[in-house]
Amino acid sequence: MCGIVGHIGTKNSVEIVLEGLKRLEYRGYDSAGISFVDETGDLQIYKKSGRLDNLKSLLKGKNLNTTISIGHTRWATHGEVNDVNSHPHTRGSVSIVHNGIIENADRLREELKNIGFKFQSQTDSEVFLALVCSNLDEKKDLVSSVAESFKKIEGNSAFVVMFAKTCEIVAIKRGAPLVCGSSNNLKELLVSSDPFALIGVADTIFFPEDEVICSFGQDQKRELKFLELNLKPSTRYLKKKQTSSLNSVEKGEFEHFMLKEIHEQPDLIRALTQYYFAGVGKDALFTLAKLKPNRICISACGTAAYAGLVIRDFFEKENRIPCVVELASEFRYRNPIIGEKDLGLFISQSGETADTLAAQHLCKSEKVKTVSIVNVEGSTLYRESDANLLIKAGVEIGVASTKAFTQMALTGRLLALAMKGELESEANQVKITKKFSLLADRIDALIVRTSEIKKVAERLYNKSGFFFTGRGSYFPIALEGALKLKEIAYVHAEGYASGELKHGPIALIDETVVNIAIVGPELFDKTISNIQEIKARKGIIVAIGPEDSTELKKLSDYFIGLNFDGLDELAPVYVNVCNQLLAYYVAKEKGTDIDKPRNLAKSVTVE
Ligand code: F6R
Repeated sequence: MCGIVGHIGTKNSVEIVLEGLKRLEYRGYDSAGISFVDETGDLQIYKKSGRLDNLKSLLKGKNLNTTISIGHTRWATHGEVNDVNSHPHTRGSVSIVHNGIIENADRLREELKNIGFKFQSQTDSEVFLALVCSNLDEKKDLVSSVAESFKKIEGNSAFVVMFAKTCEIVAIKRGAPLVCGSSNNLKELLVSSDPFALIGVADTIFFPEDEVICSFGQDQKRELKFLELNLKPSTRYLKKKQTSSLNSVEKGEFEHFMLKEIHEQPDLIRALTQYYFAGVGKDALFTLAKLKPNRICISACGTAAYAGLVIRDFFEKENRIPCVVELASEFRYRNPIIGEKDLGLFISQSGETADTLAAQHLCKSEKVKTVSIVNVEGSTLYRESDANLLIKAGVEIGVASTKAFTQMALTGRLLALAMKGELESEANQVKITKKFSLLADRIDALIVRTSEIKKVAERLYNKSGFFFTGRGSYFPIALEGALKLKEIAYVHAEGYASGELKHGPIALIDETVVNIAIVGPELFDKTISNIQEIKARKGIIVAIGPEDSTELKKLSDYFIGLNFDGLDELAPVYVNVCNQLLAYYVAKEKGTDIDKPRNLAKSVTVE
């Protein structure tokens, strides 16, 4: 889950690569490094464990004049976090950065040691470097050396290799994200793990498929070539105009990207119906409306899986189509029963989550039609699915997913409505547009009341345990609320179905434990009884529920009243925003690194 960047061009390459790494830090921040070819043609390498700022300090006062460089930000897999294991790894004139895992690294390392190679680091990445160098010794050509080396490795990886002697860069990937970019008629050429790193520099983006060699030349006639492993020209790549602007990668007035992204939700919700009813998304949605599956099988991870649980309710309660939600990391290991009459629905912000991709591959191999609800256009999931619905959340930078959850759930809502035939008439489209707008307005109003939520956070931030509870459609919101709090505030939190607590976890309740009780209009009385059970055991009750409920107000220690009127099945999405804000302010009180919480990476491209 590391981030890799490479650049060749006319501008200062170190600046471009460092900016790219800054944007890719969400992928891992155990260490950062850069290597470049200096004015005399020598390789310079700087790398440091810890955040990118450590690397920047190391670079202070150095001559960084160069137009060709590669860089890396690491999320450690093989080898502990230290300077030696940091990337780039370099041997002679060759330098590489790597994202992924080489599964047969141990065997290859032994073979290379037997022919005299000595290794400096514990990483699997250095094995690929050694392979490239051994091939270069024989063939003296970087492209064919990378091709030969890549054929020998197993597992999912992306590499960027720089050769100082010829001033060229070669990149290749299998099952890991990689994107190329160019600007001004090839004046600047870039490669990265995410198109996000290319915003502001590249005007054209290329998404190569697996095992396509991307070759960047730095001679007078600068070139970007795509080749097959047999070195024949390849057409297996997708070319797109850059559409994202620099605004999307800046925090603006907000202290954190997470807060900015929470605030963006109302506008994104309003834009979603526009996109699907009157914009580019119309064809995709209305083509999928014709699907008549016997069953829908949703696979996703983390927040995306919880959005899947919200979507399941839409399909089962109204469409009456059986729907299961699978954790993608478990799905393929339990030999699931799936068939041609099922619909495989995959949900992912990044479109690069290894487990979700593997679930999609399994469905495809069983001839199940695969449809993805995805944010990143051009991502692996996007390219490999039979059809896609974009969630149009824009770039999500905060590692904790917020706006993507909202947009996933709502895109799922539109799909369910379309498949039920309820979006055919213009009148119905207007009705749904109004309902989405109402939701957006309510979220706007909730955001204005942030100080109330902040106050609760200030009182409770140092408590050691939180139970988020909810029933029916609010159970997924309890799960997602607990996940948000865990990941950014480093506090133990669990999401539970309100009615399940008494079957065991109630033993944990005492005056030090907080219950965030989510109470929608649905199953109201039953949820109240569950809160009473916790109250009787002295648990601290924070109730989030209908604003006019005196009963709830009386029962709770802290009450956040919400206006559910007219939101119906969209209300869980509304309540979820309250949990996002609560987690944000608890984390802020605790002083954690909200946008880059410890041990996490935004895009989990290892299984
Ligand atoms: C939680 C979070 C993760 C992701 C999960 C799936 O805030 O961000 O749980 O939701 O790793 O990621 P995507 O949606 O990119 O497949």
